[in-house]
Amino acid sequence: MIEVNCDPKMDEARTAEILQEIAHDKMGGWLSLPRKFDMGEFVRIKEAAKKIQEESEYLVCIGIGGSYLGHRAIIEALRPKSETKIIYAGNSLSRRELDRALGKVGDHDFSVNVISKSGTTLEPAIAFGEFKKKLIEKYGEEEAATRIYATTDRKQGALHDEAVAAGYTRFVVPDNIGGRYSVLTAVGLLPMAVAGVNVDKLLEGASEAVDSVLEPAAKYAWMRFGLGEKGYDTEVFASFEPATAYFNEWLKQLFGESEGKEKQGVWPASVIYSTDLHSLGQFMQEGRRNLWETIIDYPTDETNAKVVQAVRVAHTEGGIPVLNIGVPSYDEMGFGELVYFFELSCAISAKLFGVNPFDQPGVEAYKEELRKLL
Ligand code: PA5
Repeated sequence: MIEVNCDPKMDEARTAEILQEIAHDKMGGWLSLPRKFDMGEFVRIKEAAKKIQEESEYLVCIGIGGSYLGHRAIIEALRPKSETKIIYAGNSLSRRELDRALGKVGDHDFSVNVISKSGTTLEPAIAFGEFKKKLIEKYGEEEAATRIYATTDRKQGALHDEAVAAGYTRFVVPDNIGGRYSVLTAVGLLPMAVAGVNVDKLLEGASEAVDSVLEPAAKYAWMRFGLGEKGYDTEVFASFEPATAYFNEWLKQLFGESEGKEKQGVWPASVIYSTDLHSLGQFMQEGRRNLWETIIDYPTDETNAKVVQAVRVAHTEGGIPVLNIGVPSYDEMGFGELVYFFELSCAISAKLFGVNPFDQPGVEAYKEELRKLL
């Protein structure tokens, strides 16, 4: 079970009210998802993953933000074994990166999973255009269509319309789940299953978390809010496992997009120790005291555990609050639980700050400006 080492002042009635608000929110579908997963869809996801593994050396996962970070975070953390390797594309507008991804696929057999809830985001749309061309050149139009898996809205958007017209295999991003809360839907499950992640265990971990993380998640959320109110405006997620760097990236998106609006929120930053103790450690120890540190305490080896201990003592003495989130296991069950814990903490915390955890008007603003320019 996830444990947090803080005991903040909490208003239990407000917490209960917030949980009700989330449960009734039109974007609160992730709250009950692990226990209400559409098993028909789950079977289809696993069958598609098997087919991709049988016929492709590479799966190109095209998507950005919530349609990308969650599955990459877990795949990189667990480094599962699979003959089919994952390549990520469409997560920037760099031509250099796109060419690199195209070059990596080269003449190998490949399939494409294009993931976009809206179906209109520019970064994945451009990358998809390039990879679709490559598929058609290699396999012809008909077979190319059987190698494209589109994860998108149930009934609308450019990607949805194209997928229906061309007959791609389709998976749905549920209406009531936004991008950054969608890692446990087909958005994340298909790439993870192809990469060899045990998605049954992942969902089981999340399902157990539905009850078990309620208390630690509420405590952590109230602690964040209390620190924010005291003027701490930056939270540094600290991990001692380099393979979890992308989990930190997912966390930054989750908290940044959920809380950072209406001039509210805490800036989410991240470090990987002990590597960053030799770069950012100086600032953490003696720099401006506007931040706190949240250690994500994965089970680790003895030496690394000593580093965790040393950091905790040194940084506390250096005058920054140090929170600790104890993760029970470094496996699918543990990450399932962790994902749910952070989603819940984040939603409660955003509500405490008085903002809507589930919209992202600022991201939409950027997309709109870019559309005008291009
Ligand atoms: O969390 C979010 O809603 C965003 O980060 C989106 O996931 C991101 O902008 C990509 O959007 P889409 O899935 O519509 O392409």
